[in-house]
Amino acid sequence: MKKPILLALSFLMTATVANAASDYEDMAPEEILEALIDKTGSTYLNQSPQNRQMMPDNPAYWLVDEGEELFHQARGPKNVSLDGCDFGKGPGVLEGAYVELPRYFADTGQVMDLEARLAHCMVTLQGFDKKDPSVKKRHGSKSDFMKLQTYIATQSNGMKWNPPLDHPLEKAMRDAGEIMFYRRSGPMDFSCKACHGSTGKRIRASVLPNINEPDEWTKAISWPAERAGQQNVRSTQHRLRGCLWQMRHPQIVGGSDASIALISYWTDAARGQPAILPDLKR
Ligand code: HEC
Repeated sequence: MKKPILLALSFLMTATVANAASDYEDMAPEEILEALIDKTGSTYLNQSPQNRQMMPDNPAYWLVDEGEELFHQARGPKNVSLDGCDFGKGPGVLEGAYVELPRYFADTGQVMDLEARLAHCMVTLQGFDKKDPSVKKRHGSKSDFMKLQTYIATQSNGMKWNPPLDHPLEKAMRDAGEIMFYRRSGPMDFSCKACHGSTGKRIRASVLPNINEPDEWTKAISWPAERAGQQNVRSTQHRLRGCLWQMRHPQIVGGSDASIALISYWTDAARGQPAILPDLKR
């Protein structure tokens, strides 16, 4: 008699677990964050109740709307939209594209992150000059580039980070990023690990995320995010630049292999966890 009940029970449990996993995709960013806080009790995730309250009205949603319009609009000297741009899942396929970046692109022979790929399409498809402000101006909520990035990335909200590591260059970039993350260097002899390698580290009031806790680290890498203190939506590359500045390193070249290697490593570290997009941070 007991067996069928047990069987039914285990079936029910598997069904619930499976549901919980896929449900992130139907959740708003603030709901995903709440679910992760309930699951982990992480002080890092839990540190800004005020920011969490603002998430439903995240100013980044303005950029999502404006980015959508820009994406589908015929623009540039060639007067075409970005619908033909392949972010890895086929031309114009945006759903789930961002959580599978950086990845190797055969047409360029390079591992590219969202920013590099977007710039590539604006230049090759739309015919923009690299120095055109549409391509060159990468930062600030008013830039075309941030609007486009925010729109594209948001099409992966709730999906699991899953950057491919099949191509040897994808693996090489991820591994190079790992070395860069742990290697101490620069005038202060900091590594990324010094601040992001254990739980409960703080700088003044800020609790810092730990790369060894994937369900905490997923929020750390969820960019674009509105930075409440800067009143601007910021990108992954902008965050990376900020941390290297804190380490007193010389300015990293945006879109360089070094920057993409670090991003490959940090995305791999959040593998399987739901992206929170757009996020809202301190
Ligand atoms: C001296 C300490 C320090 C070092 C070293 C450091 N960071 Fe950071 N990192 C910070 C601080 C402070 C923040 C911002 C936290 C906040 O604003 O709440 C941050 C934020 C981040 C975030 C985003 C987290 C979030 O929720 O905003 C990522 C990702 C990150 N750092 C990656 C790195 C990488 C990669 C390196 C090495 C290249 C690095 N950090 C080196 C202190 C550091």
